[in-house]
Amino acid sequence: MPHDWAISGPFDKKWDLQKVAIEQNGEKEATEKSGRSGALPWIGEGYYKRTFVIPQDFDGHAELVFDGAMAEPVVSVNGQEAGYWAYGYNTFRVDITPFVKPGENQLAVSLRNLEESSRWYPGAGIYRPVKLVLTPKVHIDDWSVCARTIDVNLQKKVANVTVDVHVEHAKDADPSMRMILSLADAGGRVVAARSVVSFGNGFVSRTLPVPSPQLWSPESPYLYTLTVSIVKDGKDIDKKSIKIGIRTIRVTKEKGFQLNGVTRKLKGVCLHHDLGPLGAAVNKAAIIRQIKILKDMGCDAIRTAHNMPSQMQMDVCDSLGMMVMAESFDMWLYPKCKNGYARFFDEWADKDITNLVKANRNHPSIVMWSIGNEIPEQGSEVGRQISIRLQGLIHSLDPTRPVTQGMDHAEKSISCGMAQAMDVPGFNYRVHKYQQSIKQLPQGFLLGSETASTVSSRGVYKFPVEVTDNSRYASWAPGYDPNAIKTADGQCSSYDVEYCSWSNLPDDDWVWQDDYPWVIGEFVWTGFDYLGEPTPYDEYWPSRSSYFGICDLAGLPKDRYYLYRSKWQTGQHTIHLLPHWTWPGREGQVTPVYCYTDYPEAELFVNGKSQGRMKKRKGERLDRYRLRWNDVKYEPGEIKVVVYDADGKAAGEQKVRTAGKPHHLELDVWTQTPTTLKADGQDLAFVTVSLVDKQGTLIPAAADQLTFDVKGAGTFRGVCNGDATSLEVFTEPTMKLFSGQLVVVAQAGKQPGNLTLTVCDKERKLSKTITIPVRN
Ligand code: GAL
Repeated sequence: MPHDWAISGPFDKKWDLQKVAIEQNGEKEATEKSGRSGALPWIGEGYYKRTFVIPQDFDGHAELVFDGAMAEPVVSVNGQEAGYWAYGYNTFRVDITPFVKPGENQLAVSLRNLEESSRWYPGAGIYRPVKLVLTPKVHIDDWSVCARTIDVNLQKKVANVTVDVHVEHAKDADPSMRMILSLADAGGRVVAARSVVSFGNGFVSRTLPVPSPQLWSPESPYLYTLTVSIVKDGKDIDKKSIKIGIRTIRVTKEKGFQLNGVTRKLKGVCLHHDLGPLGAAVNKAAIIRQIKILKDMGCDAIRTAHNMPSQMQMDVCDSLGMMVMAESFDMWLYPKCKNGYARFFDEWADKDITNLVKANRNHPSIVMWSIGNEIPEQGSEVGRQISIRLQGLIHSLDPTRPVTQGMDHAEKSISCGMAQAMDVPGFNYRVHKYQQSIKQLPQGFLLGSETASTVSSRGVYKFPVEVTDNSRYASWAPGYDPNAIKTADGQCSSYDVEYCSWSNLPDDDWVWQDDYPWVIGEFVWTGFDYLGEPTPYDEYWPSRSSYFGICDLAGLPKDRYYLYRSKWQTGQHTIHLLPHWTWPGREGQVTPVYCYTDYPEAELFVNGKSQGRMKKRKGERLDRYRLRWNDVKYEPGEIKVVVYDADGKAAGEQKVRTAGKPHHLELDVWTQTPTTLKADGQDLAFVTVSLVDKQGTLIPAAADQLTFDVKGAGTFRGVCNGDATSLEVFTEPTMKLFSGQLVVVAQAGKQPGNLTLTVCDKERKLSKTITIPVRN
């Protein structure tokens, strides 16, 4: 564990071939779709079993905590059914006290994934951690611990943090038992503490005044450790320690979204839960890598689309500083796919929301809850009532955070009062309706809960450059062109001018973010490519993963990364030129050049010849945030851009050269700690492999077949090249380069030593080995 049984494939159209109409895309007639949920074998049944030991003298409470199991997990202990949960994305607890015995015990978990139960790749198996918690009978209920910042007074240098705890079986508590609440700063120094002498009915609530509080924010993710213990005769009977952050959140008409009293617009991305070549199996190093890549772009928030996050992901967001909109459902009563969550909503929705909030409410990174995504009940009284009920339930469990949902039908959700009922009205796309919507929203603000859905493939550029909604590939769309799909290559252009019929370009969103104070931020669809939903190629095989990502499925930035970075990253400058400049056969042909930069102006040179100076222009769709030279004719050599600041001073430059002959392989290693891996059997190294010429210029068209060999203190875990049409499995140690690059993932073993990775290009007789130390 964590494990995903389907990620090793093989990819096959047959696994998830469907004849359906995707209603939220506006489709009316069913057409054949492939790769919609990743073309991987996740449908079916799975069984897991293992033994565990209960101490001989144990007479307390035994509980299993699953952070998620895909799907419909039935948990049995010693042959007896002990628990069940319907939703594969949620965390749940099973009280196994009645089923365990001292000594060896058998645990079995069975899972089943039905066809047409997901709009994307859900993964399969026990893909998140499971823990066994043994406590005495009188114990602290883990999820009852709730710490919240009541107020922060920076003048008086104090913050008040209220801590609620519930003691189970409090009536059986020995009168000499005490509860100690203590809060330690990041250095381990206790800064506030309370002692509680009687638990009464079990509910304990105390406020801790924290002197000189260090506030949590994405820029300064300061964490305290809260420890709650039940003590008897100086000994701990039970003890829980959690990380918390001190910070406040408010959303108001006057000030918009505020963190710690400071207004800021959410610069967010939506993320699906899969980790590309690792599938759904959570891994801390992989999550850290994702969050760091996003932070470097200037992103400060993620939306866990469209389901509950893993605890691991929330821990990483807490410690690295990433705000989170934690989501729950993609559907309520009305199904978006035949066997989706709608089967369970009536019976399970409240239980699911309760677990989501109770398990996650101490994470300072979570700034908002979401009760749903593009729920088909928009426009109905039922929809309005469910919205009010779920939002109310969340408020009762967590009075500190606002609740939202992503609505894609502006008029309908307003006409039925659903949008007005939300703490934060969230709209997916529909920028062109913001102006009309805001007039009808008593809240006085709105959020772009899902934006852009721009599509691109890393390193792929199409000519002539044309802005398109790609409906030519969709047999159900009015713009359908049967020839287009016949001649398609399953790739989208990285000039970042392609989007979907329901969506728009990044530039279109920014106009609203910049010019209207009542738009409180956005969550771009999506930060990384994910498995499944290969729009615009839903009807094209072999396409099996998305094109929406700002980064590809391997985590490599596409050009779009630098477009967002130029807008969002205020701490560092961005100068990025595209496309690559190796176009044999395009000599003399128009090959537009774009520069993504935060600077307002730049001059472009092709082999030293000026192509003119360009300035960003407000009011022009593609020229307000990009600098474009649309008439450049290709000639091999070098393109260079010189950027100018607002005072007209030259501030930096960037060059792109035409690549020569393939010369060597370059390996670039990413690990959590700068140079080593932890010998914990989980830590990962992500090694980006590039085929380059003698000068180190990427060979952009390279598609060489490479092989990988990991030896020593670790193993080969997977590989991904970001090509949405590749049918090479992630878990075999061979793959083709895509646009000259791919990423190999090596996993540390449990013993210290050296891990070596050798990458071979047999055809060109190139090979490169790197060594990564694995340490305790
Ligand atoms: C949205 C939906 C997402 C994804 C996206 C693709 O409407 O909420 O889950 O399908 O479209 O553009």
